[in-house]
Amino acid sequence: MIVVTGVSGALGGSILAGLRAVEGIGEGMEVAGASSSGDGERVRHADFDRPETLEEAFAGAKVLVFVSAGYAEDDVVLARHGAVVGAAADAGVEHVIYTSLAGSGDRLTIALAHRWTEARLAGAPFDVTVLRNGLYAEIAAGLALAGLPDAVESGVFAAPLGTGRVSVVAREDLAAVAVRVAAEAWRDVVAGGERRHAGRTYELEGLDAVGGHDLAAIVAEALGRPVTYAAVPLGAVRPALAGMEPYQAGHTISTYANVVAGLLEARGSDLPAFVESPRPVRDLIAAAVNQAAEGLSAEAAAG
Ligand SMILES: NC(=O)c1ccc[n+]([C@@H]2O[C@H](COP(=O)([O-])OP(=O)(O)OC[C@H]3O[C@@H](n4cnc5c(N)ncnc54)[C@H](OP(=O)(O)O)[C@@H]3O)[C@@H](O)[C@H]2O)c1
Repeated sequence: MIVVTGVSGALGGSILAGLRAVEGIGEGMEVAGASSSGDGERVRHADFDRPETLEEAFAGAKVLVFVSAGYAEDDVVLARHGAVVGAAADAGVEHVIYTSLAGSGDRLTIALAHRWTEARLAGAPFDVTVLRNGLYAEIAAGLALAGLPDAVESGVFAAPLGTGRVSVVAREDLAAVAVRVAAEAWRDVVAGGERRHAGRTYELEGLDAVGGHDLAAIVAEALGRPVTYAAVPLGAVRPALAGMEPYQAGHTISTYANVVAGLLEARGSDLPAFVESPRPVRDLIAAAVNQAAEGLSAEAAAG
């Protein structure tokens, strides 16, 4: 049995769907999904904030795909992730696959909880594979969409990226890696021989990096007219984050600061070893921008 956590979310949901597509191909592989909103029947109920739910949620699991649950203050995330590691050990899980953060993100504030969790897992009595996921392409798409209305008005695309660029990756590609690693880990556990992914850390950095000028070019193409990039100082961004959860605002500023410092452009990636043709992230960003631009044109025409 493989149990996947966070299946109500985008990454866990894709991993579960991918594993179900290979489930049981003559080998008796079973897969169960878990999440804190799980009903306990179709989806196992695993609330990391309530460790008492985890014994039943992880029962029978030989392999656990542990999707991080990072949307909270660090102390909450550490408690959650510590509870998962403890419950996996108690349940007799043989191999845990953890979705972490890529090495280029080492200086991001969100790295703290990921690196703490990796250390906890390293000391646990089961095999571990760490999937160090790059930042999602939708983060860059979100920046492009945020700057779109002003670009329509003024021909200037403003974003707090300085001259830096950020390597991003399609979440579906990260899910595909997790599916392959989990299925192979399960086969190795059942076969009882060498475990090819045990003790391995894979850096799944995006192969493409985008910065302010790249996003401005994508916006210009969507609008069919010239758009120039203007770097927004971090001090000007902070007030606009006031509506966010305080921890989220801190992580967001940290992300921008890391881009400005040029730290989020990856130098290499293990992704090609797992995904033959990674999805081109510029196309994903352009698709989101094109759709939003069409919506803005339709609104302008109507009103
Ligand atoms: N690489 C990146 O760029 C990036 C960006 C953002 C986040 N992340 C990390 O990657 C994870 C997966 O990303 P995603 O896109 O799938 O996020 P998502 O769609 O927001 O899903 C988050 C998942 O976390 C689960 N969760 C939250 N609190 C939980 C708790 N107390 N106990 C158990 N499960 C809990 C949610 O389950 P319920 O809905 O059932 O509560 C949900 O399934 C995130 O949780 C975050 O840690 C990575």
